[in-house]
Amino acid sequence: MKGRFITIEGPEGCGKSTQSEILVNYLKGLGREVILTREPGGTRVGEEIRALVLSAKYEEMEPLTELLLMAASRAQHVLEKIRPAVEAGTVVVCSRFTDATIAYQGYARGFDRALLKTMNDIATGGVKPDLTLVIDIDVTTGLRRAFGVEKAEAKSGEGDRLEKEDIGFHERVRKGYLDLAQAEPGRVKVIDGSGTIEQVSAAIQRTVAAVLK
Ligand SMILES: Nc1ncnc2c1ncn2[C@@H]1O[C@H](COP(=O)(O)OP(=O)(O)OP(=O)(O)O)[C@@H](O)[C@H]1O
Ligand SMILES: [Mg+2]
Repeated sequence: MKGRFITIEGPEGCGKSTQSEILVNYLKGLGREVILTREPGGTRVGEEIRALVLSAKYEEMEPLTELLLMAASRAQHVLEKIRPAVEAGTVVVCSRFTDATIAYQGYARGFDRALLKTMNDIATGGVKPDLTLVIDIDVTTGLRRAFGVEKAEAKSGEGDRLEKEDIGFHERVRKGYLDLAQAEPGRVKVIDGSGTIEQVSAAIQRTVAAVLK
């Protein structure tokens, strides 16, 4: 069976982690070989980079450094894990990928879009998602979820370096994702993330089923 590469995107707290796990179980139920992974991270090297780039400790981290670390994590991820898995027929579900670079480093941080596209092409060697799900949520609801009581224990309610950015930053991230969906409607599907976990997962499964056919 043909492998597939599905990415899950969206602003902080939209439900990426929750929904990617549910999606993986749904796909396993369909009898598919499937792996769940994430960016930054996904490999031993990438997880080290993730810890570095998201740590709230490094307030002095330059946007350019952040951009290059994200790209480095992605290069390792594609070469070591994503490309071999898809070639072997596996469905790869990945929380955040190239679109996150456009939304965060482009729309939110202001890097030139053409530069980011080149960087993404270098990091991925041309590997592109077959389907990208953007879970859309208004920024306040997302941040409340991300910082909320549910996560208070896991994160001490403090948030990582990117979550700590101001509301304007997160609004630009959201706008970036919605623009990407408009620009590439065949690949990028917007999922309404404001409903219950069950409502969101049902919408995701309908979209994924259509693409897996
Ligand atoms: N549809 C939903 N309704 C209410 N709460 C939700 C919903 N989906 C997820 N949550 C809760 O919101 C919090 C954030 O969800 P989750 O971690 O899945 O989002 P995320 O997009 O992965 O966040 P982050 O950007 O921080 O990685 C979690 O505590 C989760 O249980
Ligand atoms: Mg998450």
